[in-house]
Amino acid sequence: MSVELNPVNEVKTDTAAQPPIRKRVFSGIQPTGNIHLGNYLGAIRNWVAEQTHYDNIFCIVDLHAITLPIDPKELRTNTRQMAAILLASGLDTRHCNLFIQSHIHEHAEMSWILNCFTPMGWLNRMTQFKTKAGENLDSVGTGLYCYPVLMACDILLYQTHYVPVGDDQRQHLELTRDLAQRFNSMYKKRVFTIPEGQIREVGARVMSLDDPTKKMSKSDPNPFSRINLLDSPKEIKQKIARATTDSEKLITFDPERPGIYNLLGIYQLLTGQSQQESEDAFAGKGYGDFKAALTEVVVETLRPIQQRYNELLSDRAMLDNILKESADTVRPIAAKTLQTVKDVIGLG
Ligand code: AMP
Ligand code: TRP
Repeated sequence: MSVELNPVNEVKTDTAAQPPIRKRVFSGIQPTGNIHLGNYLGAIRNWVAEQTHYDNIFCIVDLHAITLPIDPKELRTNTRQMAAILLASGLDTRHCNLFIQSHIHEHAEMSWILNCFTPMGWLNRMTQFKTKAGENLDSVGTGLYCYPVLMACDILLYQTHYVPVGDDQRQHLELTRDLAQRFNSMYKKRVFTIPEGQIREVGARVMSLDDPTKKMSKSDPNPFSRINLLDSPKEIKQKIARATTDSEKLITFDPERPGIYNLLGIYQLLTGQSQQESEDAFAGKGYGDFKAALTEVVVETLRPIQQRYNELLSDRAMLDNILKESADTVRPIAAKTLQTVKDVIGLG
């Protein structure tokens, strides 16, 4: 597969006055397994749908994955599996680059530098750190605390314009913008492009199937809380059958009834219907009919993705080659930004 991007030398990293021809999109995803419908609807599907509009860089963020304990074998396997899922979901290397974060050492190096410019108070406010650290504040690694700084580096190294993510990344994006603005004004130079988030209203927050007041999450210990992209039709059927609804009968978008609201939202997004069309499709019908239809839509959406995934994973050399080619293509962009940063702060 070939890789086409705007040539690197069109990207002037030391001045935002000469941006690339197409706006640049950057996004990342952790290779932590259990990739689910929330990731697909909140992020991946949008990356795929809009890939021809932008100059795209997508990153499997393995350095972020080690901020919590993870088995080495599992990490390596998950990383390849994530690459295969993204390509199987429709990312096309004619329009995007897809690489592994640790293959470009500039991320780690920039991260140290930017840590030195990040006020502790800013990180103290990050809610995701508090949730992930939970009661283990004294024992979690400091990497978890600095996680948002590494994410900022991912984005800023590539002079990114847009960052398509789910709603849970809003605070991290704000921090990224604040860091970039502060750095630029400190050195009176437009070292970094100030990125904007692209958080789609629909799909940005897919909720858990068993507790629809919480977001669907990879780390939820209950496997019935999420539909993974690699689930079999049987598992999907069981999970949807067990999904929480309520004792009412109407199948409508009623935010007061979060269970059916969430399931109907998934149905609507996967069918591409309007809210009204989805409600009309189930007028006078019960939860049984609705859940059967939802099961079919989910199974049929995932079937071709799973098929392509299996094909891609069976050719490990080709997969590794795609990842390497992408890293080689985008590395010079990161290297140039890092060099500019080193120059302005007086390193070397
Ligand atoms: P992560 O799995 O945490 O690396 O997230 C990968 C992408 O999926 C990010 O853009 C998240 O914002 C998005 N995402 C994760 N969970 C959900 C969810 N329940 N609903 C919508 N988007 C999500
Ligand atoms: N923190 C993001 C998440 O958990 C993943 C991520 C890392 C990311 N670096 C990024 C997303 C850069 C967008 C841009 O979902």
